[in-house]
Amino acid sequence: MNDTVIGVGVIGCGEIAQLMHLPFIHELPSFRIAALCDISVGVIEKLGAQYGVEALYSDYTALIADPAVDAVVVCTYDHGDIVAAALAAGKHVFVEKPLAFTPEEARPMVEKAEASGLVAMIGYMKLYDPGYEIGLEKIATIGTPRSIHIHDFAGRFDTYGALYTQVKATDIPADVMATSRAAAAGRIEASLGPDHAGYVGLYLLLLMLGSHDLAVLRGAFGSEARVRYAQPVGEDQLLAVLEFGEGVPCYLDIGVAHYEWWDEFLHVHGDTDEVRIQFQNPYWRQASAVVTVREAAPSGASERRLPGVPDTAFRREWKHFADCILNGAKPRTPLSGGLDDLNLAVAIIKAMPPKPV
Ligand SMILES: NC(=O)c1ccc[n+]([C@@H]2O[C@H](COP(=O)([O-])OP(=O)(O)OC[C@H]3O[C@@H](n4cnc5c(N)ncnc54)[C@H](O)[C@@H]3O)[C@@H](O)[C@H]2O)c1
Repeated sequence: MNDTVIGVGVIGCGEIAQLMHLPFIHELPSFRIAALCDISVGVIEKLGAQYGVEALYSDYTALIADPAVDAVVVCTYDHGDIVAAALAAGKHVFVEKPLAFTPEEARPMVEKAEASGLVAMIGYMKLYDPGYEIGLEKIATIGTPRSIHIHDFAGRFDTYGALYTQVKATDIPADVMATSRAAAAGRIEASLGPDHAGYVGLYLLLLMLGSHDLAVLRGAFGSEARVRYAQPVGEDQLLAVLEFGEGVPCYLDIGVAHYEWWDEFLHVHGDTDEVRIQFQNPYWRQASAVVTVREAAPSGASERRLPGVPDTAFRREWKHFADCILNGAKPRTPLSGGLDDLNLAVAIIKAMPPKPV
């Protein structure tokens, strides 16, 4: 690394790497794309030509060994071994969410990252959303909440994904990803235990979609959430009641709907005021979360929208990663937060009625 430009190796060049990470690494002056890795040779050849990158690898250990790589971004399905190898080789790490599939595999990742002195952070981009930051400032002014509601029914990804050109892999044997998913499912079953091993699908929903929301909650109210109630609602939806602080209830409902719009919010009910942070489709660049405040006013009730800032959460997290590496800033989304979220996800599932495989 020269003093100001960080060489990034991208491991896993699929959807999120292509739609969000590669364009920002390419564009931001603190970074250069030093190397690409994917098990699809077709994908890395096309992306290498597109971004002018010659170091192309289908084996992540070779990318990690490349001296031009100062930092890696991990955008594969299964992250644990790759993160461990990158840290062992002295590379800074930016890993997509979820950190890992189980707390058992995440714990050594956190320990290794903390012992390494390297920068390691999770791509919880919603925590870098300017609307979220504005909303948190407002939440801090309304006193102890009477209740909190976090809701994520997502929405259609395809409409927003279609805004970008994506190179799709056509050369990966079908059984490779199936084997990887089956291995992860086996580890999850072991972690959930025999009484709850039948909830792998809902647990994965909590990780792949809901971990964003667990992180959003943690960013607002800390990591001491207790689980008071949890219930499956069919195969692709769940409901839980958490508790923060001195008995503040938090309703969490996560599911998959197919709305044309994006349906995800954090709503905080204070004693006299309410604050709602409405998130936008994550693939919609420049669209920050919208904050609505309802509060008592001299003439009665008032409702207003706080003006957002036109910026992209993914771009802001990359700028923060650069600030951590170049200026010693402390990561706002360290790996330890990902472990907290995995612990909470397991606790939510274990609070559900037993469901053996
Ligand atoms: N922050 C967000 O909003 C967001 C959005 C989407 C996905 N994600 C996360 O990003 C990760 C990737 O998701 P995606 O949607 O891009 O998936 P994807 O399937 O489109 O891409 C994954 C890529 O990794 C490659 N790959 C798999 N195993 C590999 C290995 N061992 N070595 C090298 N390459 C390998 C695959 O060939 C594929 O191209 C997941 O962890 C997901 O949770 C985050």
